[in-house]
Amino acid sequence: MQDSNPEEDCRVSLSKENSLMQKHFEYIVIGSGIAGLFAALEATKYGSVIVLTKGSIQDTNTLLAQGGIAAAIGKDDSPEIHMQDTIDAGAGLSDREAVNVLTSEGPSRINDLIKMGVSFDEINGRIALALEGAHARPRVLHAGGDATGAHMELTLAHLAQTSNIDVLEYALVTSIKVESGRAVGVEVLDSQSYVKTQFTGSNVILATGGAGQLFKSTTNPLVATGDGVALGFNAGAELTGMEFYQFHPTALFLPGIRPFLISEAVRGEGARLVNRKGDFFMHRYHEKLDLAPRDVVSRAIINEMSESNSEYVFLDLSLINKSTRMSRFPTIYQVCMDYGIDITKDMIPIAPAAHYMMGGVRTNLWGQTTIPGLYACGEVSSTGVHGANRLASNSLLETVVFARRVIENSTRPLSANTFLEKTKQAIQLRPPEASDNKINFTKELVQELMMDNVGIIKNGTDLMKAADRLSSILKSCIEPNNRSSHELSNMTLVGWLMAEASLIRKESRGAHFRSDYPKISSNWAENIILRKSDVD
Ligand code: SIN
Repeated sequence: MQDSNPEEDCRVSLSKENSLMQKHFEYIVIGSGIAGLFAALEATKYGSVIVLTKGSIQDTNTLLAQGGIAAAIGKDDSPEIHMQDTIDAGAGLSDREAVNVLTSEGPSRINDLIKMGVSFDEINGRIALALEGAHARPRVLHAGGDATGAHMELTLAHLAQTSNIDVLEYALVTSIKVESGRAVGVEVLDSQSYVKTQFTGSNVILATGGAGQLFKSTTNPLVATGDGVALGFNAGAELTGMEFYQFHPTALFLPGIRPFLISEAVRGEGARLVNRKGDFFMHRYHEKLDLAPRDVVSRAIINEMSESNSEYVFLDLSLINKSTRMSRFPTIYQVCMDYGIDITKDMIPIAPAAHYMMGGVRTNLWGQTTIPGLYACGEVSSTGVHGANRLASNSLLETVVFARRVIENSTRPLSANTFLEKTKQAIQLRPPEASDNKINFTKELVQELMMDNVGIIKNGTDLMKAADRLSSILKSCIEPNNRSSHELSNMTLVGWLMAEASLIRKESRGAHFRSDYPKISSNWAENIILRKSDVD
């Protein structure tokens, strides 16, 4: 899947859209993945809506989602069982109420998606449900086999483009305008013409997705640069869970190519991990073997790789019927085939890759951030659902459940709103100011720093080194003026926040593993909340 190049691609952009006379919208939605589009489509019932997206409308992480969307719709399943699995995966930091909202409202949102035109795969006239790691029941709905995200994104993008929503592509939001403590609009840069403009809005919704591009190796597309976290933090919103970043255990590893996700659903169907000596190894790490929680599987793979001095291990599909491999995983089959790997015969070389940001802009159960008028939903948000480790395929569900809640809340009279108060315990951080003491840096340098020091296995010394280096780079991010310099500045800020949060948490829990504090500790059974110090 190609990412669009703003310099080459020439569709609707702000410069041409100066014909867009309207500058005030009831809803400003930033991001066009499933979270943004679901919120936007819901919001059209209540007022004018603009979707701002820095690439093309489909240039999103959603498009690449494979495995699917988890929901307790199976005969022997229930929201309570789904809730328990989610809480177990969250390693003590999930918010029970948020998880209850997710799992109990999930089935209704699945119905909404079906009504919108998403057609999930079926077996014998019933929706097919797959098993993924740490789920007690098969409950993962999928579409087009392993093309679930693409089906959702294209369906919702088509609806948005044929509705009365204004969709502005190549429009990079560079800041959230806050007046008298309330979000009132956004500043926007056209990523092709560099024209700047402003929009005002009654409700500003961050739905910018994740930050996989912070790391050298990621399953995420080029657009995933943590912009929404940087926007929220700079506007004064609180963040939480920034030390928890999930690596997906199985991304296709071939020298010189961008990692490509090999869905957990492949292991759900029976694939097993094999080291370079040809030995299955997961029995040495966890009772759930290849379907153990993702952090356990990723660390096990890193350990096996280091023992055999190799950059990858293999995924062995021999227990999966050959025709099922092709029919159930057509995208994986085709991509592997393009690289000369025939999954009906060959094992797949894989290595872990950065995949999902559990932390983000802190919200309540209605997607409200600590800035009235500013909402967040999807990967950019931290609703409390995922805790220290996300259960596979819960993220697409979270986007739709909380996107709908955002809009529902926005329709209430202000007097009926329960705002998310700022926390007294928030740790206030002051990012270094830009200075004349510039150093040379590149995106690749930031990605390497993050991968080597703030990745799957961290320690205090490396984290300190990364935080210092990222801090020096931040000082050199002087007045970004185009899409790539804004993205690099956002990546550096978000990387620095991840390194700082990881330094603060002196234990190992879920996806946060520190070799100098390898055990979980009851002293750290709280969320770490961060806020920019120069904002009241
Ligand atoms: C996958 O298909 O393994 C990814 C699903 C997810 O990350 O939730």
